[in-house]
Amino acid sequence: MSHLQLNTQFDEHLLEFGVMDYRESILTIHQYLEEAVEEPTGWVDGPLSLETEQLARLYDMSCEIKQNADVLVVVGVGGSYLGAKAIQEALSPYFQKHENGIDVIFVGYNLSGTYMKQLIEALETREFYLNVISKSGSTMESSIAFRVLRQYAEVRYENASQNRIIVTTDPDKGLLKNIALTQGYRQLEIPSNIGGRFSTLTPVGLLPTAVAGVDIFELIEGAKQAAIDFKEEELEKNAAYRYAMYRHHMYTSGFQVELLASFEPSLAYIHEWWKQLFGESEGKSKKGLFPAAVSYSTDLHSLGQFVQEGNPVLFETFLHFKEVPEDYFVPFTDLDDDALNYLSDRTFNEINRISEKGTILAHSEGGVPIIQIELERLDAFHLGYLLYFFMKSCAVSAYLMDVYPFDQPGVEAYKKKITELLLAESIVK
Ligand code: PA5
Repeated sequence: MSHLQLNTQFDEHLLEFGVMDYRESILTIHQYLEEAVEEPTGWVDGPLSLETEQLARLYDMSCEIKQNADVLVVVGVGGSYLGAKAIQEALSPYFQKHENGIDVIFVGYNLSGTYMKQLIEALETREFYLNVISKSGSTMESSIAFRVLRQYAEVRYENASQNRIIVTTDPDKGLLKNIALTQGYRQLEIPSNIGGRFSTLTPVGLLPTAVAGVDIFELIEGAKQAAIDFKEEELEKNAAYRYAMYRHHMYTSGFQVELLASFEPSLAYIHEWWKQLFGESEGKSKKGLFPAAVSYSTDLHSLGQFVQEGNPVLFETFLHFKEVPEDYFVPFTDLDDDALNYLSDRTFNEINRISEKGTILAHSEGGVPIIQIELERLDAFHLGYLLYFFMKSCAVSAYLMDVYPFDQPGVEAYKKKITELLLAESIVK
């Protein structure tokens, strides 16, 4: 049984006439990804090589945190926080925390003094653990936040703070690694052959996810299944490769924006994670599709107009889970003064599904090419499966554009400018 369905209107045409162009290049990329053990491709077999004992150790650590704290503060930016945040948002109830978890708060992904001040105030009455996550160990946003929070933890917990700080970083190098060693903090390793945005299914994403109450064993089970399914060499049978091919077909047909759309608000951070994955992996050498996202039906009342009738630069990818955790009926009323009785006994999810169908029809008639990704259920297994699907497609898609997916040289440019300005201003001061 396939855990993910992928459809497009241009599927048949492309599979019939275009596949020859792609078969060979995708096979070459496939072989490269399978064999490039020295490259940052550790994520390709990462879920398959994760041992149950490793997962059990992370799970035990999450239990210790849940027992001794009201909140886990995760310090990280980009690939060091987005995956965990996305999974937590997607799988936790909207108005409460997950029944098996405690609050997980993310910090170190912005430079707002207001955010930091209010975070410290919010921690005053709560017991906390810190998990600082950085592959390089020296990213400015997360490093400054860690400095503040480490000092605060030392004031609050004195010597016991050592046990409440967990460092997730490169196994061999970096300032953070040194801090962990000299201060005796516990360390979790980010495998050296896995880069930030491909690291959600390592301790980077797994510890915060387990603390939030999500079943990390199921998450990895889903990713493992995906790692097996998306090793399939035959293009027609490999949805990850087909998605990469569709994107490339859109790109070479002149489309510039891929708009990821879904109808469940809890997926908003999956969108954010996806934007970073594709944006940083593909947006180089003046190439790439601009990854944008919309949460419908909310955004039908804002960006929907542009999608339907605006500048035709975009195609739309709909992400849909057939089964979501809960549902609610629209009631019947005798008065029917809002003229909605025709919907009574329908559920919100049914109406949402019909809205999605209607939107796809309307946008499609408006000339927007549509790709549809559908999974059975919004749960840990299928999310693990989906994240892996996107990572594999992303690497293939970037290589099809002749772009190296695993670096982000453009990010260095702004970092350099900020550091220059900060140094110059501190000299003046
Ligand atoms: O995908 C990436 O490599 C980046 O987005 C990084 O995750 C981000 O810049 C944070 O880097 P680090 O984990 O080194 O602090």
